[in-house]
Amino acid sequence: MTTQPFKNVYLLPQTNQLTGLYTIIRDKNTTRPDFIFYSDRIIRLLVEEGLNHMPVVDKTVATHTGEDFHGVGFEGKICGVSIVRAGESMEQGLREVCRSVRIGKILIQRDEETALPKLYYEKLPEDIDNRYVFLLDPMLATGGSAIMATDVLIKRGVKPERIYFLNLIGCKEGIENYHRAHPDVKIVTGCIDRGLNEQRYLVPGLGDFGDRYYCI
Ligand code: URA
Repeated sequence: MTTQPFKNVYLLPQTNQLTGLYTIIRDKNTTRPDFIFYSDRIIRLLVEEGLNHMPVVDKTVATHTGEDFHGVGFEGKICGVSIVRAGESMEQGLREVCRSVRIGKILIQRDEETALPKLYYEKLPEDIDNRYVFLLDPMLATGGSAIMATDVLIKRGVKPERIYFLNLIGCKEGIENYHRAHPDVKIVTGCIDRGLNEQRYLVPGLGDFGDRYYCI
């Protein structure tokens, strides 16, 4: 069962197993291969949890015993959209669970002059307005990039209630900022941290996710 500490926030069950995975990825002495392996395990759980909240329709199938099974089938198509660069780390986890899933990308960076987030690039599936969207970004800190990325999706016709924003770690401030802008988007997260430090890093956090996944 998923707990909901805030409206439209689905927090993964805080099991010992999950805490163990976070203990590994938060440890500054964890090697890059281990960081990738254990982050990928959490990402997989986030994708599965997102799918738990997708709408379904009744579906009956004939089994090999001659009896019917009354089950369900997913309604509608999904796609992933990663916020470059760190969000790209979550693409493989989505592909492993959803075969042949379409994946788009959005690049947002801080504008050197204004210090505000600026949209540099977007490449999205043509029919995105007809899909459910898993928006991928591992860290929900201030929420600035995710808010802008969600604005882009909505401008392209995606309904907010069809967006699932998946992240490994969030914090109250980021969740509240994000939901002030996009209250109907569902956030699926694995952990809610204490807050942000002066450099806008999550605390206790894990440092720079992109650097640890791709570089160090
Ligand atoms: N992005 C990161 O990689 N880490 C944080 O703590 C916040 C944003």
